[in-house]
Amino acid sequence: MASNNYQPKPEHKFTFGLWTVGNRGRDPFGDATRASVSPVTIVKRLSELGAYGVNLHDNDLVPIEATAAERDRIVREFKQALDDHGMKVPMATTNLFYDPVFKDGAFTSSDPRVRLYALQKTMRSMDLGAELGAHIYVFWGGREGAEVDAAKDPREALKWNREAMNFLCEYALDQGYDYKFALEAKPNEPRGDIYLPTTGAMLAFIATLDHPDMVGVNPEVGHEQMSGLNFYHVVAQAIEAGKLFHIDLNDQKGPRFDQDLRFGSESFKNLFFLVRLLESAYDGPRHFDAHSYRSENEEGVWEFAAGCMRNYLILKEKARQFDEDREIKALLDEIHSTNGDHSEPLGRYSREKAQKLKDLPLDRTELARKPLP
Ligand code: GCO
Ligand code: MN
Ligand code: MN
Repeated sequence: MASNNYQPKPEHKFTFGLWTVGNRGRDPFGDATRASVSPVTIVKRLSELGAYGVNLHDNDLVPIEATAAERDRIVREFKQALDDHGMKVPMATTNLFYDPVFKDGAFTSSDPRVRLYALQKTMRSMDLGAELGAHIYVFWGGREGAEVDAAKDPREALKWNREAMNFLCEYALDQGYDYKFALEAKPNEPRGDIYLPTTGAMLAFIATLDHPDMVGVNPEVGHEQMSGLNFYHVVAQAIEAGKLFHIDLNDQKGPRFDQDLRFGSESFKNLFFLVRLLESAYDGPRHFDAHSYRSENEEGVWEFAAGCMRNYLILKEKARQFDEDREIKALLDEIHSTNGDHSEPLGRYSREKAQKLKDLPLDRTELARKPLP
């Protein structure tokens, strides 16, 4: 309960993207409001705050136009910074949305050459991630979608997407990379509609892949809230399916554009149940995919990063108090109580069991009478 419980430590596995704390406050209507911060500085500052690691897109670290020699120098210096500060890179991903080449999608572009370029870029980025020690590879298909449905058949787009995932799974296996893929859904933005818009849709898609065991999900708080969904339920389903491979934590004011707000700045109750769930059933990185307000300067960015972690730890402490509270325990026992011995699991079907169940005297009027506290 003491406030030093809220001090982040590497064992909490808090991570940030180079693109999140490096976000310069640009939006579709206004230019950057702060200077860029170098990846080496980000590593240093986050380690001082108690973070575990940083995640990156290929071009957060290596500019898209870098020569091979420049790439090697940048990567060398970055690895040195990671070593110096004891920071990890648990997750890597590909920027398949910024360059104009991806204006109509990457794996689902109508142009087959763009689809090949997206694969080429992703394989190179997977090489980079593996070199940095990443074991989780995220796919966020920001541009995989449409504004004009007359232009592309979504069934065709799904097939291209599946082909790409199957190819890249094989690439990872062939290279001996120990990657798990984590697919991140978003309903829209930057596309009018993005294919596979929810984590539930991703789960259904994964079951159709050649290597479904290698592939899970990376749900993001704000993205599911944009669809009006209960994020706690979304994550619970992913966990129950054994598919929560990564998570993007932030916050959002209801179903509208993606706000990437500081974790725990809006949806306290839903995020309380989320943290309580994660603490009991997930041991991967807690990645903050959030941006500080565009009104902040660089110092404000570090306060924001500290605030994300602190809010998580406050909710974690609240979860502990909730689970130990005697009054809450008594209420839960009452809710789950039953008269008679009907609390055993249903188990597998058998003809006898079905007959027994059909004969069971269950009085619905009496059942309906039991109040919930
Ligand atoms: C967004 C997305 C991204 C992805 C990132 C990693 O809405 O901008 O959440 O931040 O998470 O590209 O793939
Ligand atoms: Mn995200
Ligand atoms: Mn987002």
